[in-house]
Amino acid sequence: MELARRPVVAIDHRSDALLEALAAGIAHEVRNPLNALQLNIELLEEELHATIPERDARVYAILAKVSSELASLDAFVSEFLRYARPARLRLESVPIRPLITEFAAFVAPECARKNVDLVVLTERCHVTMQADALQLKRAVLNLVLNAIHATPPGGRITLECQADDRSLFIRVRDTGEGIRPEAKAHLFDVFYTTKEGGSGLGLPIALRIAEAHGGTLEIENDPKGGAVATLVLPVRH
Ligand SMILES: Nc1ncnc2c1ncn2[C@@H]1O[C@H](COP(=O)(O)OP(=O)(O)O)[C@@H](O)[C@H]1O
Ligand SMILES: [Mg+2]
Repeated sequence: MELARRPVVAIDHRSDALLEALAAGIAHEVRNPLNALQLNIELLEEELHATIPERDARVYAILAKVSSELASLDAFVSEFLRYARPARLRLESVPIRPLITEFAAFVAPECARKNVDLVVLTERCHVTMQADALQLKRAVLNLVLNAIHATPPGGRITLECQADDRSLFIRVRDTGEGIRPEAKAHLFDVFYTTKEGGSGLGLPIALRIAEAHGGTLEIENDPKGGAVATLVLPVRH
């Protein structure tokens, strides 16, 4: 089922000037008041404790609900700003194999929580290249989060890294339902999501990071089942 909560926008992601103007407006007009609201809710709660000490009073349940809605709004705004106002690449010499190993250790608990096997293949990626390690990890994280979401318990995610003289391939394969036919044309559209509570920004962000490195991002279904997302980056020494 396709959720129609937000308009899906096929923004040409090269129109950076427009995006940056939007981002500046949202950072100022939305995020600043949002942070002030969060702070004031906390203050209000502290004040209330002086007059209504009973922790289970209904007013605290209402406050908790307001806080949680504000937190999701804040998460959404941050994710949008990450898309619209990507940090400039901080290129450094990055040994890829340790980066992937370290990243795998970081996401392993999330896979374990979902009872999904994480297989990491790095035998063929002894390469050091110019890249922004933090942004690269963010791109791969977005792919792995999608894979975790798509894979039912008992399934498997394979994170494979492979390099030759010219290119680095980072592949995330899952044993989930695969990309739905109706989603194929929209994967990189800003806000396109088929998930309850999805932001629809994970793949657009990953694509921007790939392109900032001079690379691409390809997503397809494996004929044997599941989806395969591949970051292809030129190896710059
Ligand atoms: N591994 C995957 N398996 C199946 N569908 C996927 C996968 N990765 C992405 N998709 C589809 O692409 C859509 C957009 O993904 P994304 O941009 O990360 O946003 P979100 O994860 O918030 O929905 C998802 O809602 C889903 O329909
Ligand atoms: Mg996602």
